[in-house]
Amino acid sequence: MNSKINQLIEFLKLNQSHIKPNQLKQFLVGLKLETEDLMPWADFNHPEHEGYGRKLVFANSNFEVMVMSWMPKDFSAVHNHGYTQWGAVQVFGPATHYVYKFEKSKIKLVEKAQFESKDVVLVTNDFIHQMGNKSNAPYLTLHIYGAENVSSEITADSFIYEIEKNRVVKTTGGAFFQLEESNVTVVEPLYCDDEWTLNEFIETILPKSQAFKSAKKTNIDNWIKTI
Ligand SMILES: [Fe+2]
Repeated sequence: MNSKINQLIEFLKLNQSHIKPNQLKQFLVGLKLETEDLMPWADFNHPEHEGYGRKLVFANSNFEVMVMSWMPKDFSAVHNHGYTQWGAVQVFGPATHYVYKFEKSKIKLVEKAQFESKDVVLVTNDFIHQMGNKSNAPYLTLHIYGAENVSSEITADSFIYEIEKNRVVKTTGGAFFQLEESNVTVVEPLYCDDEWTLNEFIETILPKSQAFKSAKKTNIDNWIKTI
């Protein structure tokens, strides 16, 4: 395995039970990873209906390391991270990043940021976010998710906040839009009455609507007609 990725995994193995997100950030900054270090896990030819490429680099019972690949107009759905207690994401391109709050069944965008390559964002247990590629060039991101005493995959049972369907669903796997109904469990209703949130959200979901159409999925088109 690539030596810098190997160093990262060894660091995580050594410190996993008492790692603090800031320590992880410091380590990542010092490691000076480059895109080429992540290229063995690049997946830019992911299926159109999946929001982005997603490859596992390493997983044990305490942490997982993944590389995500973002083509222009690739966006994740709004999601949390299952059993994750700590983690970090490092971007290797100009990712756009959205942070949401979900309280009393209402979802609201609270922060939108334009990242620069090498930026690191910390992941905590209650973190709800969305990211995507508004630029004209593909890039990769590195994702580290950790937890203690988890019997299943750390990012299993993640929630997807489906603003377009007014519901929160639970799933295992990618934070993709328009997941197959057989792959989700409905958790609770969700509402959004905030104009900024809706305006920003539609920009992230529109680029894939053509792909949804070709997959004979009409929910998003129906939703778009109503706003
Ligand atoms: Fe995430």
